[in-house]
Amino acid sequence: MLDALIPWYEKCGRSLPWRESSTPYHVWISEIMLQQTRIETVIPYYTRFLQEIPDIKSLAEADPEHLHKLWEGLGYYSRVRNLQDAARQIMTQFNGVFPEKYEDILSLRGVGSYTAAAIASICFNLPTPAVDGNVLRVMSRITGDQRPISEEKTKKKVCSELAEVYPSEKAGVCTQAIMELGETVCLPNGVPDCIHCPCREFCLSSDGSWIYFPVKEEKKARRIEFLTFFILRCNNHTAIRKRPSKGLLAGMWELPNCPGHLKKEEVFLKTEEWGCEPSECIGTGTDKHIFTHIEWDIRYYSVSCSRMSPEFVWVDDEQLNITVSLPTAFRKVLIKTVNK
Ligand code: ADE
Repeated sequence: MLDALIPWYEKCGRSLPWRESSTPYHVWISEIMLQQTRIETVIPYYTRFLQEIPDIKSLAEADPEHLHKLWEGLGYYSRVRNLQDAARQIMTQFNGVFPEKYEDILSLRGVGSYTAAAIASICFNLPTPAVDGNVLRVMSRITGDQRPISEEKTKKKVCSELAEVYPSEKAGVCTQAIMELGETVCLPNGVPDCIHCPCREFCLSSDGSWIYFPVKEEKKARRIEFLTFFILRCNNHTAIRKRPSKGLLAGMWELPNCPGHLKKEEVFLKTEEWGCEPSECIGTGTDKHIFTHIEWDIRYYSVSCSRMSPEFVWVDDEQLNITVSLPTAFRKVLIKTVNK
């Protein structure tokens, strides 16, 4: 993927003021300004800020009122206060030189993991991918990744997967190329510009399936249904019935069952209700069966009966095991009772 992305970025990447020189001071200021702020809004602020506050020392020594004025209209004013605190930190802890190690960059006030990774890769070519929502969208579409991007573990995983393929001599270009793709081609709202995408040949979303990516929601927990299954035996025959024609396992055969976990006495009552004349409960147990959205928590009972009630279809063992197509949830329980 990066083989396609790097030449594309080198040829088509926009020329933005902070891309003209990759000094850490310039990149740092731009990255802080770009947090929650659009590029077009940032550009004039960035240019004016650098004209008036050209380096770390002048930032550390600036009048806070002046800094506030330069930031006016950008919003999130804590960003500029943190910038000055970090500049003072650099003056005292790092002898006025912008730190080059990822952990040191991360230790600066107002610098989080995304910003530290962006600075470390863009300025020092460290293999530290900067992964935010933009990058997660791009990566999830290209690779058809269904992990929910709202989860922190997804972000960490994507970060480490990218780090493995980051070429160290072009780490900064990679970081900016992925950002660029997300900002100009693989757009968040509306239709992405797949025709002009350098990744279209191998992207798993270029056939239109980008609408499914990124997956945002945490998967909902499965609904648990408690059920009692009955293995009703009479004269070497077993009771089965058809499921309703709509819903889960529609129209398939099933073992008689009812909602909830019944106690042994209730099992006899239920079996009588069905007209099967129960004589003995010969076994019981539990099982679980997982469907996509539902989980069955099953209690089952084997009951000997003396009447083949017309409520059910009664099949002999050969029919049960060979002819009848019984969904796995039921088949598993049958196997368990036979093996006991
Ligand atoms: N968004 C965040 N950082 C950026 C950068 N360096 N270039 C373009 N867009 C960005």
